[in-house]
Amino acid sequence: MKILIAENMEEFDNLGASIVADVINNKNDATIGFATGSTPIGMYQKLIDMYNDGKLSFKDITTFNLDEYVGLEKTHNQSYYYFMHDKLFDKVDIDENKVNFLSGTETDTFAECKRYSDLLANNTIDLQILGIGANGHIGFNEPNTDFNSVTREVMLTEKTISDNARFFESIDDVPKSALTMGINEIMASKKIVLLANGKNKADAVYNMINGEVSAECPASVLQLHNDVVVILDKESASRIK
Ligand code: PGA
Repeated sequence: MKILIAENMEEFDNLGASIVADVINNKNDATIGFATGSTPIGMYQKLIDMYNDGKLSFKDITTFNLDEYVGLEKTHNQSYYYFMHDKLFDKVDIDENKVNFLSGTETDTFAECKRYSDLLANNTIDLQILGIGANGHIGFNEPNTDFNSVTREVMLTEKTISDNARFFESIDDVPKSALTMGINEIMASKKIVLLANGKNKADAVYNMINGEVSAECPASVLQLHNDVVVILDKESASRIK
């Protein structure tokens, strides 16, 4: 793992954006796996800035998002479909025909996961962007997820529900399950960039980097990948050796 510790959030966002931009500038039709959450928002703004400055085009890329809540319509302002369009896709020249999402409103969630898994099996992700949960999850692959897992419906842990409650009117409005890419599919990406900031991520970051590879900390599986860049701020890096 290559570990970069940013001096400040400006540098944090720029480090992430430059990795994404390099992959796309080297391969205009790259396949990029996107992540939601508060952590990558600043990086997405830097990518918008690069696009506005004429330094980057997204028009030929294919995208896959990691996960989606079950039960939220695309138009719901907490759906991940809405998030990605609001934070990045609607502000750049993305080709909507090349945007892939899990739908959280299909009645047959099994078939929906199979559709996505089949698409992923036929598209190698050149760069997967990841955040990390305070419990070490990647995507919605919660602790004790099998490393061979593929796209499926998962129940969210109480920790994840309470962490995400800040985005909803009340904790009862947080969906109880989600569809997520599996760990096996994340690991199949050619390159991975994981971003983490803030004190509440320090334990998860420590377990990911210095802990043993264990399903108890799903992100620790990244120690087995040969091209991972981890971008941290000083607080999230405070426990690592
Ligand atoms: P966050 O979420 O960026 O909002 O902290 C990260 C995650 O849960 O993967």
